[in-house]
Amino acid sequence: MTKLSLPPHSPLLSKNFVYGVATASFQIEGGSQDRLPCIWDTFCDTPNKIVDSSDGHTACDHYNLWRDDIDLIESLGVDAYRLSISWPRVMTQDAKLNPVGVKFYTDILDELKRRNIKAFVTLYHWDLPQHLEDEGGWLNRQTAYAFEHYVNLITKAFGDRVHSYATLNEPFCSAFLGYEIGIHAPGKVGKEYGRKAAHHLLLAHGLAMSVLKQNSPNTLNGIVLNFTPCYSLTQSDEDLKATAFADDYLNQWYIKPIIDAQYPDIINQLPLNHQPEILEGDMELISQSIDYLGINFYTRQVYKAHPTDIYEPIAPTGPLTDMGWEIYPQSFTDLLVSLNKTYTLPPIYITENGAAMPDTYNNGEVNDLDRLSYYNTHLNAVHNAIEQGVVIHGYFAWSLMDNFEWAEGYLKRFGIVYVDYKTQQRTIKNSGLAYKELISKR
Ligand code: GCO
Repeated sequence: MTKLSLPPHSPLLSKNFVYGVATASFQIEGGSQDRLPCIWDTFCDTPNKIVDSSDGHTACDHYNLWRDDIDLIESLGVDAYRLSISWPRVMTQDAKLNPVGVKFYTDILDELKRRNIKAFVTLYHWDLPQHLEDEGGWLNRQTAYAFEHYVNLITKAFGDRVHSYATLNEPFCSAFLGYEIGIHAPGKVGKEYGRKAAHHLLLAHGLAMSVLKQNSPNTLNGIVLNFTPCYSLTQSDEDLKATAFADDYLNQWYIKPIIDAQYPDIINQLPLNHQPEILEGDMELISQSIDYLGINFYTRQVYKAHPTDIYEPIAPTGPLTDMGWEIYPQSFTDLLVSLNKTYTLPPIYITENGAAMPDTYNNGEVNDLDRLSYYNTHLNAVHNAIEQGVVIHGYFAWSLMDNFEWAEGYLKRFGIVYVDYKTQQRTIKNSGLAYKELISKR
């Protein structure tokens, strides 16, 4: 197979369906000399946190190569580009706009507009300014207000250049990976931290939504959440209960407050000192209406009951990506259908989907049939969800190009474009060529 194929007349073949590619500031930009340090700089400088001991100082050098990268994006024929704004690049330590950083993004946004590419802007993709972490980071309620202030200034500066804003990308990762199990920056470990960080992140989302409604009422404003659907190993009561708990703790925790203005009931089973401090008015702020929900999907996870830790993830068998993540497209459809059943949702955009694969560059070609097949089955999973009544308006491939894959450094390649980090040369992989063809033949 060298093509992506969908059923004839699929809504995914309509011109109205938005196709895009996605990136994130810290993962591609480099150019760290022109911004404040962030928590990922510090984390990278801490021994044994990043598998290949790498950092984000150069990354894909998008800071210098952004014009070429926009050419590349345009050459793929996509309708939209999802990028994130580096808070430490656009703000100074005394909470003013940094004109150099702002210009970097307004230049990019102007160029996208000129080429008719819709800008989907994420306001926070994990690169918290380090000086805010020094004050407690997301464990400090004040960080939510600092975010509100930054969002107020930057959205005014961007004016009408943006098509869509996302307040946060994957608050699960920031809170759980960053403050509970510590495998992401800032690397704090403790069950007493995760829910508190999550609440302040969600509060930051709510505060930012109010700002967006005021400053940018004509953009599509929402949030991007990731989901790893939970499956029970057996149909035993214990395993089913453990799996339901994991789902509430890891997935529903982030969407339920936004849509239903409350945390899952399991909040009452948590020790008091693990629970967030919820002040009056918080849940109303968090649950105000959003114009769209961004969903990121990669894989599923199977669980069984654990005698002390409640749930235990089972190592996947089945076909795996280079991340060791199970390839199980049916769970993508199941997730979308079940979210649609459980909640009253605004239109959905798939804001990330893709796979790391062990690519080989050969004579100017990367023949990534494994990634191509992942995209094929997952685009069809989206098609199937739409057939079952889920309203989905767009799809973004993660990622435009290979980049800094967080704790995995540069060892895992998610791009539909290959990056040679020595020369910074970009090569469209065969999956990227297939994506381009799918988009062009609509
Ligand atoms: C994400 C992240 C990406 C990751 C991707 C693969 O939002 O999870 O946006 O930064 O690179 O998910 O792990």
